[in-house]
Amino acid sequence: MSGTWDETWSVGVPELDADHRRICVVLDTLSAKYLANADDISIVDTLAELTEVIGEHFSHEEQVMYRMGFSDADQHFKNHFEALRVLSLMLFNYEKNNHAITKDALELMGIWMQEHIKYFDAHLARAMTSSFHGHRHIPFEEFRASNGDQFRALA
Ligand SMILES: [Fe+2]
Ligand SMILES: [Fe+2]
Repeated sequence: MSGTWDETWSVGVPELDADHRRICVVLDTLSAKYLANADDISIVDTLAELTEVIGEHFSHEEQVMYRMGFSDADQHFKNHFEALRVLSLMLFNYEKNNHAITKDALELMGIWMQEHIKYFDAHLARAMTSSFHGHRHIPFEEFRASNGDQFRALA
């Protein structure tokens, strides 16, 4: 399934991991319903739930960044906006296009989430934990460079 949680995605901050796990569960439910029966009318409820859990989570992270005065918040906000665009596309397709969501949109959402957690959220989590221990904050570009060349930001 496209969003199945993997423990290697843990960013080391329990509150963020819990949110990410919750999003994965809803994304998995959505994929399972879609694969079982693309015309299942309860898909709309799961899409609404996905929108709600993602919206709550983004707002949570953005408040943390705002409170910390996180210097890379702009790039992170921009990447959240990309996910909201994909989600809007799924909702639009569902409502206007004969109640269909596309497999591509589902896959894109799963890929976006894995990459966002791995880079943007891991970077934020490091800054959150570093601030408790008095370590210096690493700028995003430096963090990205130190994490190999597999980075594919959707920003
Ligand atoms: Fe994030
Ligand atoms: Fe996140």
